[in-house]
Amino acid sequence: MDAVKQALHIGNAPQEPTPEQVSELKETYTSAGQSHVLSFYDSLSAAEKASLFKQLSAFDPAYINTIAAKALSPPKTESDDHGDAKLEPLPEKATASILDSSQDDIDKWYASGLDLIAAGKVAVVLMAGGQGTRLGSSDPKGCFDIGLPSQKSLFQIQAERIRRIEKLAADKAGVGAAIVVPWYVMTSGPTRKPTEDYFKKHDYFGLAAENVIIFEQGVLPCISNDGQILLESKAKVAVAPDGNGGIYNALVEARVLDDMKARGIEHIHAYCVDNCLVKVADPVFIGFAASLNVDIATKVVRKRNATESVGLILLKNGKPDVVEYSEIDKAVAEEKDPKQPDVLRFRAANIVNHYYSFRFLASIPQWAKNLGHHVARKKIPYVDLETGETVKPEKPNGIKLEQFVFDVFPMLDLAKFACMEVRREDEFSPLKNARGAGEDDADTSKRDIMLQGKRWAEAAGATVTGDSPEDGVEVSPLMSYGGEGLEGLSGKTVRAPAVIELENV
Ligand code: UTP
Repeated sequence: MDAVKQALHIGNAPQEPTPEQVSELKETYTSAGQSHVLSFYDSLSAAEKASLFKQLSAFDPAYINTIAAKALSPPKTESDDHGDAKLEPLPEKATASILDSSQDDIDKWYASGLDLIAAGKVAVVLMAGGQGTRLGSSDPKGCFDIGLPSQKSLFQIQAERIRRIEKLAADKAGVGAAIVVPWYVMTSGPTRKPTEDYFKKHDYFGLAAENVIIFEQGVLPCISNDGQILLESKAKVAVAPDGNGGIYNALVEARVLDDMKARGIEHIHAYCVDNCLVKVADPVFIGFAASLNVDIATKVVRKRNATESVGLILLKNGKPDVVEYSEIDKAVAEEKDPKQPDVLRFRAANIVNHYYSFRFLASIPQWAKNLGHHVARKKIPYVDLETGETVKPEKPNGIKLEQFVFDVFPMLDLAKFACMEVRREDEFSPLKNARGAGEDDADTSKRDIMLQGKRWAEAAGATVTGDSPEDGVEVSPLMSYGGEGLEGLSGKTVRAPAVIELENV
């Protein structure tokens, strides 16, 4: 099929394929038992034929069959055969907690992380390829206005944190020259164009365009419950992004790793677009991971209580892993830490916020093919092959195949993995649900930013007044990354809700 692919990538608009090319494609799909995807081919317009042909040529249907079959009946693991898996918290030497580390340690990590940033060795990868179905907005999640007084979107907040950390690094290094933290923004088919347009429209929020690299993850066909590739229309296969674990293939295929290498990047912070409190390129985290010389480090927050539905980072059969709350027995979930009886033994809640060494990411081609897929059962609109009509199912009628970003953890030796516990109120508030849900929605995102700003203002010596304790202070990330730089507020009274921008302190 390679010659076919090449033939079709000449020029921008796909050209109608030749009869030989079509018959070669038909043969490939027929031998994989998926020939129905061409059911309507002969009735399509020339442009539709070209576009369907291009889409189908990008997939290997035999490979799709294999990964779908594997995802639907995952191979048995050792623990399935020998009773329960052995679960243990990560050992102390692989963990640190901002909640009980000494200020000296935190300062040391912060300083060394800033030095690495100033040396141009740190990059950031944003996972923003999800479709945000629960949020229900048609724009990419990063464009969402969570209702801050400034109306800044998630993308703008993150861009401004990058600008601020670049400045802090430049100041520490005593260099006037600009320090660059390249920002690699992973999008997917549905989010790429609107993300690019949004960044262009806002002039990259003050970052240099060449340092904001927007790339695209892969998609995979959606599969019916009986293993057939679903058509979204007569001329289009239903596809979905291949999960946030698609990051690994995308980093290679979109040549992000080549770009990182050319820039001399050694340390990478990767995070999800929907966390409004994310400390992008956090020097403390970078300094911590670099000092341990690990390949992956992950930030966690403390699980609120034994029943909170969060994935946990722990050791499973001696390997770092993420275990979903539903896979843990009640008694285990409720166990207390023998050293701190008022906290849970298993409390490291996963927030998908990671450090990678470049040397680890450079090894992706050696293992990416072995990374399995998970099944997400969904209601997927499809074309009825008999009638040609679109059907919107009421119940899940098929699966999307997804890779998870943390599926690589068990590949690592414990010596190459570390975990840092951070304060939830300072670092984690995800936007998952539509407004009004009362949990992980725009209102909780806004509240958490405003309350953090209030804490910072008070710590800087301001008195914050207001009608409601929920009325906080929005501190511009250009002004402060983590509470620093607010000395000008000392002794002042701030009436909440308020916005602290560079010019008003
Ligand atoms: P979620 O799993 O919460 O998905 O993504 P989502 O798309 O944001 O929301 P729902 O589930 O459809 O409501 C967690 C993070 O992983 C990214 C998302 O953009 C988000 O930052 N992600 C998810 C990708 O980058 N690619 C994907 O294929 C899936």
